[in-house]
Amino acid sequence: MLTVSEIKFKQIARTIESRIRDGVYPPNTKLPPHRVLAEELQTTPVTVAKAYKLLSEQNQVESFVGRGTFVCGESQLSSVIQTSDDEDDYNFSILQPCLSHNVPELQSAIRSSASKITSHLTGYAENSGHERHRQTGIRWASQYGLEPGTVQNTLLTSGTQNALAVLVESLTKPGDTIAVETLTYPGILAIASLRRRHVVGVQMDENGMIPEHLQQTIEQHHPKLVIVVPSHQNPTGITMPAERRESIARVVRQHNIWFIEDDIYSFLNEDPMPAICNWLPERGFHVTSLSKAICPALRCGFIKAPSSQVATISAHIRTDIWLASPLNFIIAEELINSGQAFELAERQRLLAGERQKIARKYLPHSTIPRQGYHLWIPLPSHWQQERFAMEAQNHRILVSSGSYFDTQQSCNHIRLSLTAINSEQKFKQGMEKLNKLLHSDPATVFSYQTNPF
Ligand SMILES: Cc1ncc(COP(=O)(O)O)c(C=O)c1O
Repeated sequence: MLTVSEIKFKQIARTIESRIRDGVYPPNTKLPPHRVLAEELQTTPVTVAKAYKLLSEQNQVESFVGRGTFVCGESQLSSVIQTSDDEDDYNFSILQPCLSHNVPELQSAIRSSASKITSHLTGYAENSGHERHRQTGIRWASQYGLEPGTVQNTLLTSGTQNALAVLVESLTKPGDTIAVETLTYPGILAIASLRRRHVVGVQMDENGMIPEHLQQTIEQHHPKLVIVVPSHQNPTGITMPAERRESIARVVRQHNIWFIEDDIYSFLNEDPMPAICNWLPERGFHVTSLSKAICPALRCGFIKAPSSQVATISAHIRTDIWLASPLNFIIAEELINSGQAFELAERQRLLAGERQKIARKYLPHSTIPRQGYHLWIPLPSHWQQERFAMEAQNHRILVSSGSYFDTQQSCNHIRLSLTAINSEQKFKQGMEKLNKLLHSDPATVFSYQTNPF
């Protein structure tokens, strides 16, 4: 049975929790000192301290000796992906290609595609997109390991995020469960949360999602859908080897569930890897886009869908956006048909490799060798991930706290994008600052605020 004092501090914790939820205490702000809140809520400082401790155990707040208690940051896409235009910021937060390297080709593709704009291509189109633009999607995805689709089963979307949202909406209902990698892309978690789908994390090892755990999760939680990012996984950077891909497909095939393969980073593989959907022609939806290889602003995404689902998914795309802008696909067509899209993708892959090498020099103890656009860095025990991301921001270094990716809230990591900073020199400066911050003591960092290193 609960004692009176236990009931009291749990009540106080609930009050604070609802204030956090209502925005009275916004993320990353300092909560009132024990004595002040105790006076306001007519209780004792000890009771408030116990309430803070309870909320800290639930990862809602975090306490620091001598500094007070802070509200943890919230898992919102706007916080995980910080799109700063400020020249003084070191942006390690957003996963995008080194854009300045692609701009000249993009400009020339826009110039040469201008003459291809016809009245036919500027009107509403039947079937959520033009056949010639679907052909470009087939070419793009099959270059990186997907068995080529057809113009009938290749659908156009406004980027991968749109594809994921449309698929979740059409394949599941509110209250259904979706199985994902324990650490996953926050865009998937945001779709599930806004659409009231439950998410269950499937354990991973160094080769990605573990098939035996997927099997157990399906038996225990009965998900309707599994979503996997098989190449250069966001956030861990893991690429699933071919055998693991086949084993995952085998587990999915044994059950009556849908499968989405978010293959947006497949162009970063040195050699093409077989898409998991190659083994799942009847249950697998392959999604990808040109955002990471060329630029996010193109918003050109592609779904390869099982034939039985094409009509339903097309109806959902039409209902949401009518059709993804053909004007953007005219540019994509130009880039893909001229072969430039593949050259740009390769250029970015090599550049990412260079950045990985540089990063390892500055962060020698914190990283395992990886390829690709990002690093998933375990923090030293003296740093907590939310606090680190906040302090880094105070020093104009934008990083993403691991909490945004974690379905189990058990990691203490940051994710670093290596390609959002265009200049190599600035990238190195940012790495140096980051390394210093990682090795500093959180208790002393606060005083650096007016003198950022
Ligand atoms: C795994 C993954 N899927 C999808 C997206 C969003 O892609 P798009 O710009 O094509 O919507 C991202 C962006 O970071 C991502 O990391």
